[in-house]
Amino acid sequence: MVRRRAAWAALLVALAACAALPATTTANKISINWAPNTNYTVWEQTHGPFYKGDWLVFYYTTGQADVVEVNESGYNRCDASNAIYNYSKGRSFAFELNQTKTYYFICSFGYCPGGMRLAIKSQKLPPPSPPPSAHDRSAALARSHAGLVLYAAAAVLAALLRML
Ligand SMILES: *[C@@H]1O[C@H](CO)[C@@H](O)[C@H](O)[C@H]1NC(C)=O
Ligand SMILES: *[C@@H]1O[C@H](CO)[C@@H](O)[C@H](O)[C@H]1NC(C)=O
Ligand SMILES: *[C@@H]1O[C@H](CO)[C@@H](O)[C@H](O)[C@H]1NC(C)=O
Ligand SMILES: *[C@@H]1O[C@H](CO)[C@@H](O)[C@H](O)[C@H]1NC(C)=O
Repeated sequence: MVRRRAAWAALLVALAACAALPATTTANKISINWAPNTNYTVWEQTHGPFYKGDWLVFYYTTGQADVVEVNESGYNRCDASNAIYNYSKGRSFAFELNQTKTYYFICSFGYCPGGMRLAIKSQKLPPPSPPPSAHDRSAALARSHAGLVLYAAAAVLAALLRML
């Protein structure tokens, strides 16, 4: 009886510990191999979603590419003449998506029409304690969170059964 009560107490403690796990969402560092003949429209579709606070790190070959932030028309026309920002030094360029909006980047070295342009939508960060209807990443977190709880409960139940 005492053992059984202890086992139940252990189960409750384990469940409480799991429930208290923070559903953290830390900012991501997203590496981009910034090179000609890559379709970054496809890249964006397969590497997202992206969130405000994420960092994009463009890696390129010095002297063979640059990263130019433009507006939507600059992106559509592969026109770097009204650049918001441009970067071409070194071998990489880190950029923080610090607003909730679509960012546009192109390469001004002639590779833009071939696909070397990136339109990337940065979304609002999911709330720390996601409601069930929150979007994908939150839902995934909630699922993994629930998975942890189930796993812990199963482990404790197994222990409990052994004790009885
Ligand atoms: C982009 O910038 C150019 C030059 O400043 C401007 O004429 C154009 O209207 C802008 N396009 C958009 C979609 O904001
Ligand atoms: C990049 O910025 C520099 C300095 O602001 C400017 O001289 C150069 O023309 C720009 N290049 C592009 C491709 O926008
Ligand atoms: C937003 O990010 C850009 C590029 O990384 C940076 O230069 C700028 O200072 C940032 N702005 C704020 C408000 O953090
Ligand atoms: C890149 O992929 C998108 C989406 O599949 C497509 O619409 C576009 O034409 C492609 N661009 C190039 C330059 O192939």
